[in-house]
Amino acid sequence: MNKKERIERLKKEKNAIILAHYYVDADVQEVADYTGDSFYLAKVAKATDAKAIVFAGVEFMGESAKILNPEKHVYMPDLHADCPMAHMATVEEINKMRETYDDLAVVLYINSTAELKTYADVCVTSANAVKIVKNLPQKNIFFIPDRNLGNFVKEQVPEKNVMTNEGHCPRHTIITKEDVIKAKQKYPQARLAVHPECTKDILSEADYIGSTAGIIDYVVGSQEQEFIIGTVDGVFAKIHELAPGKILHTVRENQICPNMKKVTLDKIITVLENENNEIILDHEVMDQALKPLERMLELAK
Ligand code: 13P
Ligand code: SF4
Repeated sequence: MNKKERIERLKKEKNAIILAHYYVDADVQEVADYTGDSFYLAKVAKATDAKAIVFAGVEFMGESAKILNPEKHVYMPDLHADCPMAHMATVEEINKMRETYDDLAVVLYINSTAELKTYADVCVTSANAVKIVKNLPQKNIFFIPDRNLGNFVKEQVPEKNVMTNEGHCPRHTIITKEDVIKAKQKYPQARLAVHPECTKDILSEADYIGSTAGIIDYVVGSQEQEFIIGTVDGVFAKIHELAPGKILHTVRENQICPNMKKVTLDKIITVLENENNEIILDHEVMDQALKPLERMLELAK
């Protein structure tokens, strides 16, 4: 029996499903029951009636799944697969802003720890941040921990006073304007599609800005054939599956997320067999963190 067959058998035996983010390797995406962006996967996690979820992604994704569906067992193939940006905001920063502004909404990117979520008014993902911020009753918005997504939202929703902290994704901010110029010179026919975690000077060069699912839809649905992609190259797998003829380039070499790369077929087999690496969260944290996540699901409808 090969690895994929073993995983299929274990999934049935354990009544488990595998959710995979578009950033994990193609072979992992292939064994998943659902692949998607953070928003889609959160919705699937909430709705599933499987007994267990193996989350092929990073820690905040597994935590969100557990919080949204606390009766389920949520397992991480690698407990060290963590998103550094998830830790780039502090309770002190939030408290200070709450003291300064009466009319404030703390808008927390889902790429954040469960503990931070207990202090938020609403969570967002890159797929719904603009829509949600636009519809909040508050004028002042403290958008954390991604200053680039926050600044993108600020531009799209100029009627709000959007403030950010210094958090950012190291994998997207490593892409420079010079990289973009070089890539455009090398592939002059190509359209540029980027994730809003990139810096503003990159976004200003783009033909399309959106979440990983948005980028995939844009490329697959476009009449054009050649694209430069400004996000982790895991998204190539879905595009190749849906539109095999498209020619894809990264902006620069090595556009990977090392934490997403920690997820492998062998580790999935191990957690399915041993039911180890389970996400365990304090009940009070789960209750408090559920509120901003549910508000996101409500406001994004
Ligand atoms: P998505 O919201 O597109 O899933 O992106 C998540 C992420 O981690 C981007 O770096
Ligand atoms: Fe976090 Fe960036 Fe990796 Fe996304 S790409 S999981 S934001 S480190």
